[in-house]
Amino acid sequence: MLGTWLTMSQVPGRIRIAAAGDIHCDEDRHSAVEEAFARVAAEADLVLLAGDLTTYGEPAQAHVLADVVRGFPLPVVAILGNHDWHSDRAEEIVELLVGAGVVVLERSSTIVTVDGVSIGIAGVKGFVGGFGSTWANFGEPLFRQAYADTTADVDALDAALRSIAGCDVRVALLHYAPVAETLAGEPEGLWLVLGAERLARPIVAHRPDLVLHGHAHHGSFEGSLDGIPVHNVAVHVMGRDFWVFELEAKRAEGEVVAEESVAEESSVRGEPTP
Ligand SMILES: [Fe+2]
Ligand SMILES: [Fe+2]
Repeated sequence: MLGTWLTMSQVPGRIRIAAAGDIHCDEDRHSAVEEAFARVAAEADLVLLAGDLTTYGEPAQAHVLADVVRGFPLPVVAILGNHDWHSDRAEEIVELLVGAGVVVLERSSTIVTVDGVSIGIAGVKGFVGGFGSTWANFGEPLFRQAYADTTADVDALDAALRSIAGCDVRVALLHYAPVAETLAGEPEGLWLVLGAERLARPIVAHRPDLVLHGHAHHGSFEGSLDGIPVHNVAVHVMGRDFWVFELEAKRAEGEVVAEESVAEESSVRGEPTP
Protein backbone atom coordinates (compact mmCIF):
# COMPACT_ATOMS: atom_id res chain seq x y z
CA MET A 1 0.00 0.00 0.00
CA LEU A 2 1.32 3.45 -0.85
CA GLY A 3 -0.90 6.20 0.53
CA THR A 4 -0.56 9.90 1.26
CA TRP A 5 -1.81 11.86 4.25
CA LEU A 6 -1.70 15.60 4.80
CA THR A 7 -1.53 17.18 8.25
CA MET A 8 0.07 20.21 9.95
CA SER A 9 3.08 20.41 12.26
CA GLN A 10 3.25 22.85 15.19
CA VAL A 11 6.81 23.89 14.35
CA PRO A 12 7.64 24.14 10.64
CA GLY A 13 10.22 21.55 9.62
CA ARG A 14 10.03 19.61 12.90
CA ILE A 15 8.16 16.34 12.83
CA ARG A 16 6.90 14.66 15.98
CA ILE A 17 6.44 10.92 15.63
CA ALA A 18 4.69 9.18 18.53
CA ALA A 19 5.65 5.51 18.58
CA ALA A 20 4.55 2.51 20.62
CA GLY A 21 4.76 -1.23 20.21
CA ASP A 22 3.06 -4.11 21.96
CA ILE A 23 0.04 -2.21 23.22
CA HIS A 24 -1.78 -5.58 23.30
CA CYS A 25 -5.32 -4.21 23.32
CA ASP A 26 -8.13 -6.18 24.85
CA GLU A 27 -11.60 -5.40 26.10
CA ASP A 28 -10.41 -4.62 29.65
CA ARG A 29 -7.94 -2.00 28.43
CA HIS A 30 -10.30 0.16 26.38
CA SER A 31 -10.20 3.24 28.60
CA ALA A 32 -6.43 3.04 29.16
CA VAL A 33 -5.82 2.92 25.40
CA GLU A 34 -8.33 5.70 24.83
CA GLU A 35 -6.65 7.93 27.43
CA ALA A 36 -3.18 7.25 26.03
CA PHE A 37 -4.22 8.24 22.52
CA ALA A 38 -6.09 11.31 23.80
CA ARG A 39 -2.95 12.53 25.58
CA VAL A 40 -0.61 11.97 22.66
CA ALA A 41 -2.91 13.67 20.15
CA ALA A 42 -1.64 17.08 21.24
CA GLU A 43 2.01 16.04 21.33
CA ALA A 44 2.63 14.51 17.92
CA ASP A 45 2.04 14.82 14.20
CA LEU A 46 1.55 11.14 13.54
CA VAL A 47 1.40 7.84 15.41
CA LEU A 48 3.30 4.68 14.55
CA LEU A 49 2.39 1.32 16.10
CA ALA A 50 5.04 -1.41 15.97
CA GLY A 51 2.84 -4.51 16.11
CA ASP A 52 1.23 -6.71 18.76
CA LEU A 53 -1.78 -4.44 18.61
CA THR A 54 -3.92 -7.13 20.26
CA THR A 55 -3.41 -9.66 23.04
CA TYR A 56 -4.35 -12.84 21.17
CA GLY A 57 -5.26 -11.68 17.69
CA GLU A 58 -9.02 -11.73 18.25
CA PRO A 59 -11.15 -9.30 16.26
CA ALA A 60 -12.89 -8.15 19.48
CA GLN A 61 -9.51 -6.97 20.72
CA ALA A 62 -8.82 -5.13 17.46
CA HIS A 63 -12.23 -3.48 17.88
CA VAL A 64 -10.84 -1.75 20.98
CA LEU A 65 -8.11 -0.05 18.97
CA ALA A 66 -10.45 0.61 16.04
CA ASP A 67 -12.92 2.37 18.36
CA VAL A 68 -10.15 4.53 19.82
CA VAL A 69 -8.60 5.61 16.53
CA ARG A 70 -11.82 6.13 14.57
CA GLY A 71 -11.92 9.90 14.04
CA PHE A 72 -8.51 10.33 15.71
CA PRO A 73 -7.02 13.66 14.55
CA LEU A 74 -3.57 12.27 13.59
CA PRO A 75 -2.58 9.71 10.96
CA VAL A 76 -2.02 6.29 12.51
CA VAL A 77 0.27 3.84 10.72
CA ALA A 78 0.63 0.30 12.06
CA ILE A 79 2.06 -3.10 11.37
CA LEU A 80 0.92 -6.41 12.84
CA GLY A 81 2.92 -8.45 15.35
CA ASN A 82 2.99 -12.17 16.06
CA HIS A 83 0.17 -11.86 18.62
CA ASP A 84 -2.07 -10.39 15.94
CA TRP A 85 -1.66 -13.62 13.96
CA HIS A 86 -2.31 -15.97 16.89
CA SER A 87 -6.01 -16.60 16.21
CA ASP A 88 -5.57 -16.94 12.42
CA ARG A 89 -7.81 -13.90 11.94
CA ALA A 90 -5.22 -11.36 10.83
CA GLU A 91 -7.22 -10.47 7.73
CA GLU A 92 -10.23 -9.49 9.85
CA ILE A 93 -8.01 -7.44 12.15
CA VAL A 94 -6.53 -5.55 9.21
CA GLU A 95 -10.00 -4.95 7.79
CA LEU A 96 -11.27 -3.59 11.11
CA LEU A 97 -8.32 -1.24 11.54
CA VAL A 98 -8.34 -0.01 7.96
CA GLY A 99 -12.07 0.64 8.35
CA ALA A 100 -11.24 2.85 11.34
CA GLY A 101 -8.72 4.85 9.32
CA VAL A 102 -5.46 3.11 10.25
CA VAL A 103 -2.88 2.58 7.51
CA VAL A 104 -1.79 -1.02 8.05
CA LEU A 105 1.50 -1.77 6.34
CA GLU A 106 2.16 -5.35 5.33
CA ARG A 107 5.50 -5.52 3.53
CA SER A 108 4.68 -2.11 2.08
CA SER A 109 5.12 1.64 2.54
CA THR A 110 3.14 4.82 2.96
CA ILE A 111 3.88 8.56 2.89
CA VAL A 112 2.55 11.09 5.40
CA THR A 113 3.02 14.78 4.57
CA VAL A 114 3.25 17.11 7.57
CA ASP A 115 3.44 20.82 6.80
CA GLY A 116 5.19 20.18 3.51
CA VAL A 117 7.60 17.59 4.92
CA SER A 118 7.17 14.09 3.50
CA ILE A 119 7.60 11.22 5.95
CA GLY A 120 7.97 7.82 4.35
CA ILE A 121 7.29 4.75 6.44
CA ALA A 122 8.41 1.28 5.34
CA GLY A 123 6.59 -1.41 7.31
CA VAL A 124 7.29 -5.11 7.67
CA LYS A 125 6.59 -7.40 10.60
CA GLY A 126 9.91 -9.18 10.22
CA PHE A 127 10.44 -12.66 11.59
CA VAL A 128 12.85 -15.03 13.28
CA GLY A 129 16.45 -15.97 12.52
CA GLY A 130 18.60 -14.69 15.36
CA PHE A 131 21.97 -13.00 15.58
CA GLY A 132 25.44 -14.44 15.32
CA SER A 133 24.40 -18.10 15.25
CA THR A 134 21.55 -17.67 12.81
CA TRP A 135 18.85 -19.93 11.47
CA ALA A 136 20.03 -21.74 8.32
CA ASN A 137 18.00 -22.44 5.20
CA PHE A 138 18.27 -26.17 5.66
CA GLY A 139 16.44 -29.29 6.72
CA GLU A 140 12.80 -29.85 7.51
CA PRO A 141 10.19 -27.99 5.45
CA LEU A 142 9.02 -25.99 8.48
CA PHE A 143 12.53 -24.63 9.07
CA ARG A 144 12.95 -23.77 5.42
CA GLN A 145 9.52 -22.10 5.37
CA ALA A 146 10.48 -19.96 8.36
CA TYR A 147 13.73 -18.99 6.64
CA ALA A 148 11.81 -18.13 3.46
CA ASP A 149 9.33 -15.99 5.43
CA THR A 150 12.16 -13.91 6.87
CA THR A 151 13.68 -13.66 3.37
CA ALA A 152 10.37 -12.30 2.08
CA ASP A 153 10.44 -9.64 4.81
CA VAL A 154 14.03 -8.71 4.01
CA ASP A 155 13.17 -8.33 0.33
CA ALA A 156 9.99 -6.38 1.11
CA LEU A 157 11.83 -4.06 3.47
CA ASP A 158 14.39 -3.40 0.74
CA ALA A 159 11.64 -2.59 -1.78
CA ALA A 160 9.64 -0.48 0.72
CA LEU A 161 12.69 1.58 1.72
CA ARG A 162 13.55 2.08 -1.93
CA SER A 163 10.00 3.34 -2.59
CA ILE A 164 10.35 6.09 0.05
CA ALA A 165 13.90 7.07 -0.89
CA GLY A 166 12.78 10.53 -1.99
CA CYS A 167 11.02 11.41 1.29
CA ASP A 168 12.35 14.10 3.62
CA VAL A 169 12.15 11.74 6.61
CA ARG A 170 12.29 7.95 6.34
CA VAL A 171 11.30 5.45 9.02
CA ALA A 172 11.58 1.66 9.05
CA LEU A 173 8.78 0.16 11.19
CA LEU A 174 9.15 -3.48 12.27
CA HIS A 175 7.91 -5.78 15.00
CA TYR A 176 10.92 -8.13 15.20
CA ALA A 177 14.34 -6.63 15.95
CA PRO A 178 16.91 -6.10 13.19
CA VAL A 179 19.75 -5.75 15.72
CA ALA A 180 20.66 -7.59 18.93
CA GLU A 181 21.51 -4.45 20.90
CA THR A 182 17.85 -3.63 21.65
CA LEU A 183 17.28 -7.21 22.85
CA ALA A 184 19.68 -6.77 25.77
CA GLY A 185 17.73 -7.81 28.87
CA GLU A 186 16.06 -10.77 27.16
CA PRO A 187 17.57 -14.24 27.67
CA GLU A 188 20.04 -14.86 24.83
CA GLY A 189 18.39 -18.22 24.20
CA LEU A 190 15.30 -16.33 23.00
CA TRP A 191 17.07 -14.02 20.56
CA LEU A 192 16.56 -16.52 17.75
CA VAL A 193 12.82 -15.79 17.88
CA LEU A 194 13.02 -12.10 18.78
CA GLY A 195 14.59 -10.87 15.57
CA ALA A 196 16.85 -11.56 12.63
CA GLU A 197 20.13 -9.98 11.66
CA ARG A 198 19.24 -10.47 8.01
CA LEU A 199 16.71 -7.62 8.44
CA ALA A 200 19.62 -5.24 8.97
CA ARG A 201 20.88 -5.57 5.40
CA PRO A 202 18.27 -3.35 3.67
CA ILE A 203 18.41 -0.89 6.58
CA VAL A 204 22.16 -0.39 6.21
CA ALA A 205 21.77 -0.19 2.43
CA HIS A 206 19.02 2.48 2.46
CA ARG A 207 19.91 4.25 5.72
CA PRO A 208 16.50 5.41 7.01
CA ASP A 209 16.55 8.16 9.64
CA LEU A 210 14.91 6.05 12.31
CA VAL A 211 14.26 2.34 12.87
CA LEU A 212 11.53 1.23 15.29
CA HIS A 213 10.58 -2.23 16.48
CA GLY A 214 8.86 -3.93 19.43
CA HIS A 215 8.31 -7.59 20.41
CA ALA A 216 11.13 -7.82 22.99
CA HIS A 217 9.24 -6.79 26.14
CA HIS A 218 12.33 -7.14 28.31
CA GLY A 219 14.79 -5.66 25.82
CA SER A 220 16.47 -2.26 25.69
CA PHE A 221 15.19 1.02 24.29
CA GLU A 222 18.21 2.33 22.46
CA GLY A 223 20.49 0.82 19.86
CA SER A 224 22.02 1.57 16.51
CA LEU A 225 22.88 -0.06 13.25
CA ASP A 226 25.89 1.33 11.42
CA GLY A 227 25.11 4.71 13.00
CA ILE A 228 21.37 4.54 12.27
CA PRO A 229 19.26 4.94 15.43
CA VAL A 230 17.23 1.84 16.33
CA HIS A 231 14.67 1.88 19.17
CA ASN A 232 12.68 -0.88 20.82
CA VAL A 233 9.41 0.95 21.49
CA ALA A 234 7.59 -1.87 23.28
CA VAL A 235 5.57 -0.09 25.99
CA HIS A 236 7.07 -2.46 28.58
CA VAL A 237 10.56 -1.25 27.67
CA MET A 238 9.65 2.46 27.42
CA GLY A 239 7.64 2.47 30.65
CA ARG A 240 5.20 4.88 29.05
CA ASP A 241 2.43 4.85 26.48
CA PHE A 242 4.32 6.57 23.66
CA TRP A 243 7.74 7.93 22.94
CA VAL A 244 7.70 11.08 20.82
CA PHE A 245 10.65 11.31 18.43
CA GLU A 246 11.26 14.78 17.10
CA LEU A 247 12.86 14.80 13.69
CA GLU A 248 14.12 17.93 12.05
CA ALA A 249 14.00 17.70 8.29
CA LYS A 250 16.86 19.62 6.77
CA ARG A 251 15.87 19.21 3.22
CA ALA A 252 18.30 21.75 1.81
CA GLU A 253 21.22 19.76 3.19
CA GLY A 254 19.47 16.47 2.52
CA GLU A 255 19.91 15.25 6.08
CA VAL A 256 17.68 14.70 9.09
CA VAL A 257 18.65 15.21 12.73
CA ALA A 258 16.80 12.96 15.19
CA GLU A 259 16.06 14.03 18.74
CA GLU A 260 13.84 12.46 21.33
CA SER A 261 11.36 13.77 23.84
CA VAL A 262 9.21 12.15 26.46
CA ALA A 263 5.46 11.54 26.34
CA GLU A 264 3.27 10.14 29.09
CA GLU A 265 3.87 7.57 31.81
CA SER A 266 2.56 4.18 30.79
CA SER A 267 -0.97 3.07 31.40
CA VAL A 268 -1.03 0.73 28.42
CA ARG A 269 0.55 -2.59 29.29
CA GLY A 270 0.43 -6.03 27.82
CA GLU A 271 1.24 -9.36 29.33
CA PRO A 272 4.92 -10.13 29.78
CA THR A 273 5.36 -12.57 26.89
CA PRO A 274 6.64 -11.11 23.59
FE1 LIG B 1 5.53 -9.86 19.61
FE1 LIG C 1 4.30 -8.21 22.41
